[in-house]
Parts: sequence; C-alpha cells; structure tokens
Amino acid sequence: MVKELASTFRHDGVAEAYRHRPPYPDEVFDRLEALITDEPRSVLDIGAGEGAIARPLAPRVERIDAVDFSQAMVDAGRGRADGNRPNLRWQVSRIESAELDGPYALVTAGASIHWMRWEETFARIVPHLTPNAQFVIIEHGPVDMPWWDGVAAAIKRHSRSQSYDPSFDVVDALQQRGLFEPAGSVRTEPVTRCQSVAGYIEQFHSTSSLARELMSAEEAAEFDTAIERAVTPYAQDGVLELKIAAELSWGRPPRSDRPAPKLPPMR
Ligand SMILES: C[S@@+](CC[C@H](N)C(=O)[O-])C[C@H]1O[C@@H](n2cnc3c(N)ncnc32)[C@H](O)[C@@H]1O
Repeated sequence: MVKELASTFRHDGVAEAYRHRPPYPDEVFDRLEALITDEPRSVLDIGAGEGAIARPLAPRVERIDAVDFSQAMVDAGRGRADGNRPNLRWQVSRIESAELDGPYALVTAGASIHWMRWEETFARIVPHLTPNAQFVIIEHGPVDMPWWDGVAAAIKRHSRSQSYDPSFDVVDALQQRGLFEPAGSVRTEPVTRCQSVAGYIEQFHSTSSLARELMSAEEAAEFDTAIERAVTPYAQDGVLELKIAAELSWGRPPRSDRPAPKLPPMR
C-alpha cells in the first residue's frame, strides 16, 4: 500500500467516479446498528469519502460525524442521497487531527483505515469512545467474477500501486501493533446488483491507483478497452450481474490498564 496515493482522493474526477461503486449491502447497516449498545447512539465514520457508510447509517442513529480529508469527496457526499440530513455532520480533516465531539458508541472505517497513521488515529479516537463502543473495519466489493483474470491483468498493467499485497490483513496488523483487540467478524450474504459495462469500467477510476488524473487520456482509453474486452462476453445487453458482499471486523482498542501485546522480533 502506497500511503501517498491517498491524496488521489482529493481529485474531483475520483469523487465523481465514486458513484459507480456498488453500494454496501443493507445487511451491513443492520449489523452496524446491532453493534451499538451504548447511549448516545452517535457514530464516527473515518475516511468517510462521499458517505457510502455514513449516509445510509444516518437515519438509523442519533448522530453521525463523517470525517474525510478530501473536500471533493465531502462535496460529492453532500449532494448524494441523505447527504444533507441534519444528523450527518461532515468534517474535512485528516482523522489524525480532527476535532472530535464524542462520545461515540460506534466507529466505522470503510475501506479507509489502511490509509491512516494508525497510532495517531487511535490516540485521537480512543478518548471519545463510550465504554462498550465498537470499532468496525468494513470492506466490500463484487465476488465470484468469472471475468476476473482479464480484469486483474489490466489492473496490473495500469495500477499506480504496484506494491499492493492482496494477502495483507489490516486487522492482524492492527492487533500486532497493540491497537486493536478483535471481537468478531462476518461476511454478509452476497446481493445481486446489475450494472452497465460502462459503469463497471468507470468505478475503477474512483480508486486511488487507477484515477483518470493519474493517466494520460490514451492510457485511460487503453485501460477501459481492456476491461470492456474482459467483461463483454459475460454481459447481457451491455449489463453485468454482480454479486456484492461485505466483510465486517469489529473490536476495541485494548484497555489502557492492560499491557499491549509484544511485537514479534524484527528480522
Ligand atoms: C476508499 S475511500 C472509502 C470511502 C468510504 N468510507 C467508503 O467506504 O466508500 C477512502 C477514503 O479515506 C480518505 N482518507 C484517507 N486517508 C485519510 C485520513 N488520514 N484522514 C481522513 N480521511 C482519509 C480518502 O480521502 C477517501 O475518501
């Protein structure tokens, strides 16, 4: 993970392309709601982007504070469904230095924690947690894609994140640093979503490593053609059937009265 690529999310084109990403399945929000056991039912969403978590969660909770350092993403979020709810408060800031207004009974990090400076992020958040607050790490996306090999080859050719390691487990890494004690995890049932081939292609340009702003027009066209070729045999009338699933892992920062687990020796 090249953390510098996080600044790609500041581009307007990335925020615009973001609406082509699949929404999180409804089960995610049922599960998040069930993890709130304290009052007030206030939530902090870190690296909120254009509110893919914060906006659908807002009607279910007392208040949600959505923090993201990209003005473009926050502006996009305000203009999307539920983006202007009075109980959804946007803040354009790095989470590491955000002005927090807890206590929060739940913290959500959707596809975002790997971008942050973990020690600073947890130091910022921990004083604002209710006694039983849960910290939830959420990832989601299409699963079981028969066209994946062709798509993966195009991504490999064009991605600006050539050191990306798909086996990296952020929950393990946080636990090893003594920042997080996992309490549970679940994978949601896949839900079907139909998407045009054009929309499917465009959502890749909402990622930090494949943004249009990082490519020449020629390279972007080459990438788009490669994806189109890979998926078209599986489309019907220009539409793909996707199965979208999410993974939630929740837990808490360790209580400060217990010693942090030791790091393995450096090799
Ligand atoms: C992949 S997007 C995820 C957005 C949203 N949570 C979702 O699930 O769709 C990652 C977001 O994290 C934000 N981000 C990255 N590092 C950040 C930091 N240190 N503080 C605040 N936001 C950050 C980026 O601007 C981007 O909007």
